[in-house]
Amino acid sequence: MPHPSQLKELRLLMLILGIESSCDETGVALYQLDAKSVDQPASGLLAHALHSQIDLHAEYGGVVPELASRDHIRRLVPLYRQVLKQAGKQAEQIDAIAYTAGPGLAGALLTGAAFANALAQGLNKPTLPIHHLEGHLLSPLLSDTPPSFPFVALLVSGGHTQLMRVEGVGQYELLGETLDDAAGEAFDKTAKLLGLGYPGGPQLAALAKQGTAGRFTLPRPMLHSGDLDFSFAGLKTAVLTHVNRGIQDNDKADLAVDFEMAVADVLCTKAMSALRQTGLKQLVVAGGVGANQRLRETLNAQAQRRKSQVFYPELALCTDNGAMIAFAGALRAHSHPEQLQASGSFGVKPRWPLMEHSA
Ligand code: KG4
Ligand code: ZN
Repeated sequence: MPHPSQLKELRLLMLILGIESSCDETGVALYQLDAKSVDQPASGLLAHALHSQIDLHAEYGGVVPELASRDHIRRLVPLYRQVLKQAGKQAEQIDAIAYTAGPGLAGALLTGAAFANALAQGLNKPTLPIHHLEGHLLSPLLSDTPPSFPFVALLVSGGHTQLMRVEGVGQYELLGETLDDAAGEAFDKTAKLLGLGYPGGPQLAALAKQGTAGRFTLPRPMLHSGDLDFSFAGLKTAVLTHVNRGIQDNDKADLAVDFEMAVADVLCTKAMSALRQTGLKQLVVAGGVGANQRLRETLNAQAQRRKSQVFYPELALCTDNGAMIAFAGALRAHSHPEQLQASGSFGVKPRWPLMEHSA
């Protein structure tokens, strides 16, 4: 295997395989980085394939970790073959294998890490452990009209709600984060309270489309706290109070709209404050909740008023996927080739703050 430090000179054209298995989606992708056209990132995504485990977990009302791991094992090889075929590439042409090393479910992460390392060993290629949130964070760069560094990032997933100043690949400064539930978690828990199935976010959003706003008064926790932190647990409790009072089925859609508006309001207000504090004009939104239409409309309207721009990943790349891992791997392999690892022993980090992965 070439020494990692040689790769920078060796590889103007790098083919990176990306593997995502941190939760309930198995994602595999091939990204080709052409060092001469790094400013057109979207052109490098050759193929990506995804298997969602929604049906598998639906009857349990949430992700069952052991079932998730077993299903990843079943899906990884067929998805890997599928992307090679789609991209018209041979395994030997892969230069490095990027995989999600954390944060996420330990067993689920291990399936992707083991597959990546075994394949790397067989192909005699290096691996690159990727931080799942870095994947989300950089995914808007894969769109046809990407933002440029530096920007503010609003990361809103099932486990995280964070505002960050992003100076470049691996240069992240935490501006604020949730003190309790994540935005996606609040969506999922509220959906459950309203009797909706898993995954709650998209189902609650669909229900809210049929509702009328303004019937329920819900709190906007920490809206005026003066910092960029969030709290969503109280909002969920307020919904619970309404539910406990005995809500009619036909009122649920109205409660769903008001919940969605409260979340969008808090996220948007804090994101605009982050733009003001940093003096930046670009906001990048990433993570599953970034798929929410009401949040997008609220952010777009407010940003326009501030003469700022909001960037989102393509809708298909908002939730977990392999493309963002292959892409983050390509950028890291390009900018931090010393982080490429010889395949062999490996570990995963179910808990892994992104700030520990800066640089
Ligand atoms: O980023 P992601 O796919 O996985 C994590 O890394 O957590 O985010 C999943 C979260 C879930 O909480 C899901 O309910 C939420 O994103 N979500 C949504 C929507 N689509 C997914 N929340 C609100 N509206 C949506 N349209
Ligand atoms: Zn995610």
